[in-house]
Amino acid sequence: MFTKTKMDRAQEVALLEELLGLKENSLFFLDYAVQFSHVDRYVTETRFDREMASVFRAVPLIAAHASELPERGSYLTRQIGDLPVLLTRGKDGRANAFVNVCRHRGARLVAEGKGCKHAFSCPYHAWTWNSSGDLRGVPHEKQGFPDLERSAYALKRLPATERLGLIWVVAGPLAEPEFDAFLKPVERDFGWLGVTGLGIAACDLTVLGANWKLLLEGGLEAYHFKVTHKETIGSHFLDNISSYQVLGPHIRSVLPRSRVTLPETGDGESWSIRDHANVLYTVFPLNQFLVMQDHVAWISLNPLAPDRTEAMIVTLAPQETIAEDRMDHWRRNHKITSVTLSEDFEVNEAVQAGLASGANEFLTFGRYEGALHRFNDEVEKRL
Ligand code: FES
Ligand SMILES: [Fe+2]
Repeated sequence: MFTKTKMDRAQEVALLEELLGLKENSLFFLDYAVQFSHVDRYVTETRFDREMASVFRAVPLIAAHASELPERGSYLTRQIGDLPVLLTRGKDGRANAFVNVCRHRGARLVAEGKGCKHAFSCPYHAWTWNSSGDLRGVPHEKQGFPDLERSAYALKRLPATERLGLIWVVAGPLAEPEFDAFLKPVERDFGWLGVTGLGIAACDLTVLGANWKLLLEGGLEAYHFKVTHKETIGSHFLDNISSYQVLGPHIRSVLPRSRVTLPETGDGESWSIRDHANVLYTVFPLNQFLVMQDHVAWISLNPLAPDRTEAMIVTLAPQETIAEDRMDHWRRNHKITSVTLSEDFEVNEAVQAGLASGANEFLTFGRYEGALHRFNDEVEKRL
C-alpha cells in the first residue's frame, strides 16, 4: 500500500462540512447572480487569435510532468497552440524550453517525439545545438559562414521553470514570466497532492470539435452530473452539490460522493477527503487535475482553432505503483476516466455545433454555475 497524500485535516473537514450543511437544509452552493457568456467568445477567429496572443502565449502553461524529462539529456517535443516547443533537461539537470525551429533557415529542428540525447541536429543542413540551446556545429562553416557569431544563433529560449512536479513554460519568447505570482496560490494544495511523487501510468490524446473554454466549463459544475453521467459515475455523487474556491487565477472545486461522511473522533489518519469527495483543480488556463482516491486524472488542453482542441488525458499515479503488476488496475481506471470524459466531450461537441446554429446569442450560467463565470472572467481580464 502507498500512503495517500493528505490535505490539512481542518481544511478537508471545513470543505465537506460546508457542503453537508447545505445539503441538510436542502440548499445549494450558489453564486450571487446569473451570468452570461457571449457566443462570439467560442466561435470567432478574431477572438481565438486574441486568446492565443494574450492568454496562451502570455501566461505560464504546463508543458509536461517533470517525470517526462527523467534524466539529463531527456528531451520531448510539444505543440503549444501553433508554437512548436522543444523541452530538454540539460547537463546541469535544469529543464529548458526552446522554440523547436532551426535558426539557420527555419526547419523544424526535432521531429515529434521524445528520447535522450545531448545534441540536436537539423534535418536540413545539420546545424547542431546542445541541450542548453548553444550552437555547436555548422557544416563547412569557415568558408560558408565566415565570422559567424554563434551566440547570436542559439535556439530561441522560452521562459521555463520546474515547480510542483511540473514543467511550466511561457510560450512567448518576449513574455515577462510571472511564475511566482502565478503558482503561489496553488502551491500549498499541490504540496499535499504530491505531484512530484506521481508519474504517468496511462495517457491518450484526442482532438475534439469544441472550443477549449467549453471543455473546461464542463468540469467546473456538478449541475450536469446526474444527467450527462447517469450511466457512469452519476450515481456515486450527490445531486448538484459542489463548491468552489478561487485560488488566484485557479479554481478548486469539491464534489462530495453520495456516501460522504465526516471523520469521527478516533479516525486519526485513516480518514481522507479523497475517499469522500472528488477535488478538482482547474489550473488556469488549460489544465484540470481531478484528485481521486488513489490517483489523479490530468486533462491538459491545447487549443488549435475556435472549434478544435486537442485534449491529453493522463492518469497520474504514485511512482512506486507504476509497475507491471499494477498496470491492469491503472488501465481500468484510465478507461473509466476516458469513458466519463467522452460523455462530456460528446455533449460539448454538440454545444459547439449548437453555437454555430445561431439559436443563442449568450450562454446562461445559473447560480450553480458560478465557477464558470469566475473562470471566464479570468480569461477576459487578460485580453
Ligand atoms: S535549416 Fe536547419 S540547418 Fe539549414
Ligand atoms: Fe462531466
